[in-house]
Amino acid sequence: MDAPFSRSATVYDLLYEAAGKDYAAEAAELHRLVQERRPGAATLLDVACGTGAHLAHLARSYATAGADIAPAMLAEARRRCPGIDLVEVDMRALALDRRVDAVLCLFSAVGYMPSAADLDAAIAAMARHLTPGGVLVVDGWIRPADWRDGGYLHALAAGDGDLAVTRLTSSHRDGRRTRLDMHHLVGTREHGIEHLVERHDLHLFTDDEYRHAFRAAGLTVEVVPGPYADRDRYVGVAGT
Ligand SMILES: C[S@@+](CC[C@H](N)C(=O)[O-])C[C@H]1O[C@@H](n2cnc3c(N)ncnc32)[C@H](O)[C@@H]1O
Repeated sequence: MDAPFSRSATVYDLLYEAAGKDYAAEAAELHRLVQERRPGAATLLDVACGTGAHLAHLARSYATAGADIAPAMLAEARRRCPGIDLVEVDMRALALDRRVDAVLCLFSAVGYMPSAADLDAAIAAMARHLTPGGVLVVDGWIRPADWRDGGYLHALAAGDGDLAVTRLTSSHRDGRRTRLDMHHLVGTREHGIEHLVERHDLHLFTDDEYRHAFRAAGLTVEVVPGPYADRDRYVGVAGT
């Protein structure tokens, strides 16, 4: 078993591009959201930035920085976003020496928090990095009521000529914990076909738990439409 986002980091972008994930459109919507609440916002931090796919677009409008816990994801982000400050850190322990007008935590990364207390700690750490009136955008994991009984089986495949990959994910729920076992077959000319297995545990937080975390961190909180119909996007604004 490989650590989450360790060996799969090199195929992450290829898989989500093949799945039709549109980072340019998502970044444009995030820019709109942020500017609507904090006109003139100029600085931004992407927490759990992964391979930097949102940052690459947002860097056209903001002085940006990123943070993530996975060194292999940060290595991809560094390749994509040379010149952007990228920090290896657990979101609960985020303590940068700067504040920004917008903090983002996207694509359900916050679902990796194992308990409501950890969620509170992560949101509080993000909120501490906001300038007065700054905006926090957090994309939650699947709503508990929308998790499909019996779990999910999901397949993705992609290739770019040099690299080919298939990923089969089997997901199960145990109480509030959802476990995603991801099997990748990765083919390269250099190494032939390799089998990578990663286990991702994400927590199904309730709407009350997300809202509590925002309020406890001194932020307003509202839900707005996000990129996925079965997940909520939480937006908070810091006091001035
Ligand atoms: C689904 S990926 C999302 C990456 C990126 N935000 C995107 O939209 O493509 C989840 C990311 O959360 C990161 N992550 C998971 N737990 C974390 C933690 N405790 N602190 C910081 N990052 C974490 C992973 O390393 C991974 O890059």
